[in-house]
Amino acid sequence: ISDIADQVERELVSREEIDRKIAETAKQISHDYAGRDLLLVGVLKGAASTLVALADALSIDVEIDYVKLSSYGAGTESSGTVTVRNDLSCDVRGRNVLVVEDIVDTGRTLAWFCKELDRRGAASVETFALFDKPARRTIDFHPKYQGILIPDVFAVGFGLDYAEKYRNLDSVAVLKPSVYSKETNA
Ligand code: PRP
Ligand code: MN
Ligand code: MG
Repeated sequence: ISDIADQVERELVSREEIDRKIAETAKQISHDYAGRDLLLVGVLKGAASTLVALADALSIDVEIDYVKLSSYGAGTESSGTVTVRNDLSCDVRGRNVLVVEDIVDTGRTLAWFCKELDRRGAASVETFALFDKPARRTIDFHPKYQGILIPDVFAVGFGLDYAEKYRNLDSVAVLKPSVYSKETNA
């Protein structure tokens, strides 16, 4: 998308680097789950681009489902409360589940959802987050398939949004401070 060029400070992760990480991860996952049942679960909305790209790059057949999660704001941050906004359409009991995320930040969303999948009786639960901001972690959480490490900056694109915008940027960019320092995004 070219109409946001004036809002972008610089590119942070190129599309080539994203494609390389996804190809490498898909190869590893295809190997690890060869001959086994696998349910890929994308966490909406951010993970949509990553899930499609990963599924495309796998050499094994998988089932795909989605869940929409939302975590509470700063007020209850310490509780790590996450709620299911739109649930999975299938029962995970006895399934091997791989949760796919665009990014792991504080770690709350993935830590909570993995526990929830365990509680629902999944046979195994693993995680892949395409991007990882370790500087923001408040919960000691490490995805099994580690993504691209990024610094604690305002990154958007490839699923990452700012106020619901910029998700369809095909690489990851840093926004200009003038964009997010505005009080309103109407
Ligand atoms: C973002 C991102 C992850 C989560 C990571 O989702 O897509 O799901 O936050 O943060 P955490 O590690 O601190 O939990 P968000 O809640 O913004 O919803 P979205 O995917 O719809 O943008
Ligand atoms: Mn998300
Ligand atoms: Mg978001």
